Amino acid sequence: MTGRVEGKVAFITGAGRGQGRAHAVRLASEGADIIAVDVCDSIDGVPFALSSEEDLAETAELVKAQDRRVLTAKVDVRDLAGLTDVVAAGVEQFGRLDIVAANAGIATGGQSLEDMDTKTWQDMIDVNMTGVWHTAKAAIPHIVAGGRGGSIVLTSSVGGIKSYPFCGHYVTAKHGVVGIMKTLAIELAQHNIRVNSVHPTQVNTAMIMNEATYGMFRPDLENPGPDDFAPISQMMNTLPVPWVEPEDIANAVLFLASDESRYITGVQLPVDAGACLK
Ligand SMILES: NC(=O)c1ccc[n+]([C@@H]2O[C@H](COP(=O)([O-])OP(=O)(O)OC[C@H]3O[C@@H](n4cnc5c(N)ncnc54)[C@H](O)[C@@H]3O)[C@@H](O)[C@H]2O)c1
Repeated sequence: MTGRVEGKVAFITGAGRGQGRAHAVRLASEGADIIAVDVCDSIDGVPFALSSEEDLAETAELVKAQDRRVLTAKVDVRDLAGLTDVVAAGVEQFGRLDIVAANAGIATGGQSLEDMDTKTWQDMIDVNMTGVWHTAKAAIPHIVAGGRGGSIVLTSSVGGIKSYPFCGHYVTAKHGVVGIMKTLAIELAQHNIRVNSVHPTQVNTAMIMNEATYGMFRPDLENPGPDDFAPISQMMNTLPVPWVEPEDIANAVLFLASDESRYITGVQLPVDAGACLK
């Protein structure tokens, strides 16, 4: 039996852990070779550790365990030249590019838009929105050159469909991702390249499973933990779960990356346990 993305090559940002790692492993399990990048460093102002080089190396091992090839690189999505170089190196090594998962992102927050400082705003826009554009921009010439079409999946958020207070910069960036997605879907359709976005609710990753998030959602408690965060998180969903798993998002990305979705483009796909219904 052949895999659902057999023989294809996928470029994934933020692949060191969390959803990006799940995308790498899921796509590899269905036959894709992987170009995996991550910043592997801290970013000033982000109140939790980002991935390390060891994390990215572990992702590579997990891909290899699926009998697929993998190229990893430490690249910040704010660095267009760095992304361009790694995609070129990956295409040279693996011979083609078919799939993009523009997944890298950060979370900061806690301030109203009125009170937010300009650096917090700008870093968010640079990583979560401009970084997505950079990722697509670096990849598009190679997918077009292949002449076989392709699929670009941009990671937005429930916060790219509706708004929440005290994270207006994140909400703005994630709505901006939808603008990038819709524009690319029109511009690239002539090449049979489809472009869609996924919109997760809270996902069980280090981005939300950290003390800063627990404290933001439970300011009433001295040392809140995941069990204290869970009931509040669950209230934001319709289905009776506090959060979903990275593999739930990876399954949606796999569907959008595969030919099963061959006539789906320009779509915002919530993987949100019904959060957008509220
Ligand atoms: N976790 C959630 O609840 C949630 C909900 C909705 C959307 N999202 C989005 O999902 C995506 C993946 O997040 P996650 O949940 O896996 O969190 P995560 O923090 O586990 O993973 C994010 C990854 O992106 C990397 N990264 C951050 N900035 C980068 C940069 N400038 N360049 C390259 N890599 C960078 C990090 O090192 C990390 O490996 C993000 O875009 C996030 O905004 C997350």
